[in-house]
Amino acid sequence: MQLEKICLNVCQLARETGLFINQEGEKIKAENVEVKGLNNFVTYVDKNAEAKIVEGLKKLLPEAGFIAEEGSGKEAKGALNWIIDPLDGTTNFIHGMPPHAVSIGLADGEELLAGVVYEVKADECFYAWKGGNAFMNNKQIHVSKAPTVADSLIATGFPYYDFDQMQAFMGTLEYLFQNSHGVRRIGSAATDLAYVACGRFDSFYEYNLNPWDVAAGALIVKEAGGQVSDFKGESNYLFGREIIASNNNTHKEFLALINKYFYK
Ligand code: IPD
Ligand code: CA
Ligand code: CA
Repeated sequence: MQLEKICLNVCQLARETGLFINQEGEKIKAENVEVKGLNNFVTYVDKNAEAKIVEGLKKLLPEAGFIAEEGSGKEAKGALNWIIDPLDGTTNFIHGMPPHAVSIGLADGEELLAGVVYEVKADECFYAWKGGNAFMNNKQIHVSKAPTVADSLIATGFPYYDFDQMQAFMGTLEYLFQNSHGVRRIGSAATDLAYVACGRFDSFYEYNLNPWDVAAGALIVKEAGGQVSDFKGESNYLFGREIIASNNNTHKEFLALINKYFYK
């Protein structure tokens, strides 16, 4: 499989979809917002963007299945799948705010092969393919060199529908408020990961995420020299609903800290 070529084609498709998202963003109204669950929203823009992406990807790789947030296509169990979030950061989008992104990953079972995160408002396309390094708008990107958590700017997502692990999460925040450069919640997990990959953030952690939130971004972080794991330091971050991504230097320290609160 020519992963580089596939990746560049997916970037083009993500950019075209981003143009559609931007155009519709100008017109979006409160009556376009549907409620999927507690604080979980969707619009016709998410759904139409996904349909556009799936149509394009079918032409690119007819044998691959789909794991897509808004339910398009059929999963190919244990085989090649596109893992798609057509609009990551819907809450930002409906409030007219950046960032929001198109996220498209390609996986063979659990092995990530390619990833594209296109942050629509900044017109930044982050991408990587397995073994091919990571890029943003044609320029190679690298994770930061921060040596410790104390030297780090941390990204996370706040719980918004499942509050069972609130105490553990608040413990991590309390620690990080006092022992890091600060914590950001920018509202798009795919963009959080892309920003770790290019060194803007030094680490990111969040739980209750879905595969489409992390598939593309996790590969981009790894190809940019970073490290990705679940909260136990294992590799079940794609389907395991918890992820830590770091600049590699700080992974062990950051992992031990998150693990301490969540698994004590
Ligand atoms: C959400 C964003 C957000 C994260 C949520 C995700 P959506 O995705 O990535 O940053 O905190 O957990 O569900 O719903 O906007 O595609
Ligand atoms: Ca998402
Ligand atoms: Ca989404």
